[in-house]
Amino acid sequence: MIVQAKNHRQVLLQRLTPDDYGKLVEYLQQLGPDTLKRFGPHAFGMQAVLECFQNPENSAYVALDAETFRIIAYSIIKTGYLEHDRERLQSYGLVLDKLTDCTFAPSVADSWQSMGIGNSLFGFVLLELKARGIQRIILWGGVQCDNEKAVNYYRRNGFTTLGQFVYNGLNYDMILDIG
Ligand SMILES: CC(C)(COP(=O)(O)OP(=O)(O)OC[C@H]1O[C@@H](n2cnc3c(N)ncnc32)[C@H](O)[C@@H]1OP(=O)(O)O)[C@@H](O)C(=O)NCCC(=O)NCCS
Repeated sequence: MIVQAKNHRQVLLQRLTPDDYGKLVEYLQQLGPDTLKRFGPHAFGMQAVLECFQNPENSAYVALDAETFRIIAYSIIKTGYLEHDRERLQSYGLVLDKLTDCTFAPSVADSWQSMGIGNSLFGFVLLELKARGIQRIILWGGVQCDNEKAVNYYRRNGFTTLGQFVYNGLNYDMILDIG
């Protein structure tokens, strides 16, 4: 799918394939400190990327600058939930489902943030997840309450807050029903 960013550049949205792993490592390694404070679902070297996507529970979607073909945004999806988050999520009364829940972590390159890429890629991911039979999207390790951009982004896309927890500051657990 092709969309236009707010800077009028054309952007391609697609599922990540093994051909993109090198570009993904380049993308991850150029993220700036503000984004790195907020986003780190796995380590950023090639070995970590290979191990991550050898696991069939993990998949990802990317946005590429149509001029340079460089990755400018990356969202990772895990089918089910993180074992590490299970007890906390259940403490809200959530009945988790390994097949129809998924766990989501989005990122956009620093110089492309606030240009509509996050919203566009999320719309694309949503269509794919619905086609895969996913019914709920849970945040990967929650979102830091002081991450205003991300909290706005999740609320704007319909996520609601399940509860909050302390880990390196205060965080919200959020969820979106897409069933
Ligand atoms: C959070 C993030 C994925 C959003 O993607 P984005 O491309 O920057 O966002 P978009 O331009 O598509 O805007 C989406 C929504 O985010 C919010 N938003 C975006 N920029 C914002 C800003 N500067 N200030 C406040 N809210 C902002 C708005 O609600 C916006 O919706 P609207 O434009 O329809 O009002 C991206 O900013 C990012 O990667 N941040 C760093 C990493 C991160 O925090 N990841 C999430 C970890 S939980």
